[in-house]
Amino acid sequence: MYLILFGAPGVGKGTQSKRLSREFGIPQVSTGDMLRQAIKTESELGSQVKSRMERGELVPDEVILSLIEQRIQEPDCSKGFILDGFPRTIPQAEGLGQLMQKLSLPAFRCIEIYVPDEIIIRRLSERKICSSCGTDYNPILNPEPADHICIKCGGSIISRNDDTDQTVRKRLDIYYSQTANVKSYFQQRGMWERIDGNRNVNEVYNDLLKLI
Ligand code: AP5
Repeated sequence: MYLILFGAPGVGKGTQSKRLSREFGIPQVSTGDMLRQAIKTESELGSQVKSRMERGELVPDEVILSLIEQRIQEPDCSKGFILDGFPRTIPQAEGLGQLMQKLSLPAFRCIEIYVPDEIIIRRLSERKICSSCGTDYNPILNPEPADHICIKCGGSIISRNDDTDQTVRKRLDIYYSQTANVKSYFQQRGMWERIDGNRNVNEVYNDLLKLI
């Protein structure tokens, strides 16, 4: 299965793609996770992208396309993968189209998850993550322990640098000005489906399974 989960920040792309990854035994390919890992390991890529990500701005297309080209040729991607947070611009969508041809990949399904902005802002203001293993904590799905220590790995629980109110609003602006038009690229190719993400995680997941 070759799937793109598309949508604004905080609609649940990461949450749902992790579940789909376990269900179908194919990897979740998240450009955001790859970039955060590069920052954590203080690699050259990490120092290149850190300040942009903290400001909520997009990383240049050529950097993202090169990351994706390498990642999807790794052995675990040979039977399919789930793209989470990519493509986010028309040049990225076109770059993906070229990669599909070059690597002889079958057509992708592209599913948009949509959620009203005010719900997104609330979800992201409440989100905490483990600084070590990345486990997601939030009041509804997985409340943070009182001692702020991750129950999975003992790491400290923190807010993501780009989850401040001001940066979330900027990420949403960027989504509407630079990413939302990727929809029409896929719609024109008959590759677009859409589900309501403003319900509980299991209901959203069941809708995804029905579509897939
Ligand atoms: P990225 O990591 O991709 O962030 P994002 O798209 O802003 O997505 P989020 O991780 O915030 O949200 P999500 O939709 O995955 O929702 P989640 O499941 O986590 O990108 C970060 C940055 O990296 C970008 O700003 C940019 O700088 C750079 N970047 C990445 N990709 C790039 C690209 N292709 N091009 C250029 N730059 C790029 O859920 C959010 C919260 O809601 C969680 O706490 C979760 O538990 C909760 N939640 C989920 N579902 C539900 C539900 N149904 N009900 C209640 N709560 C829910």
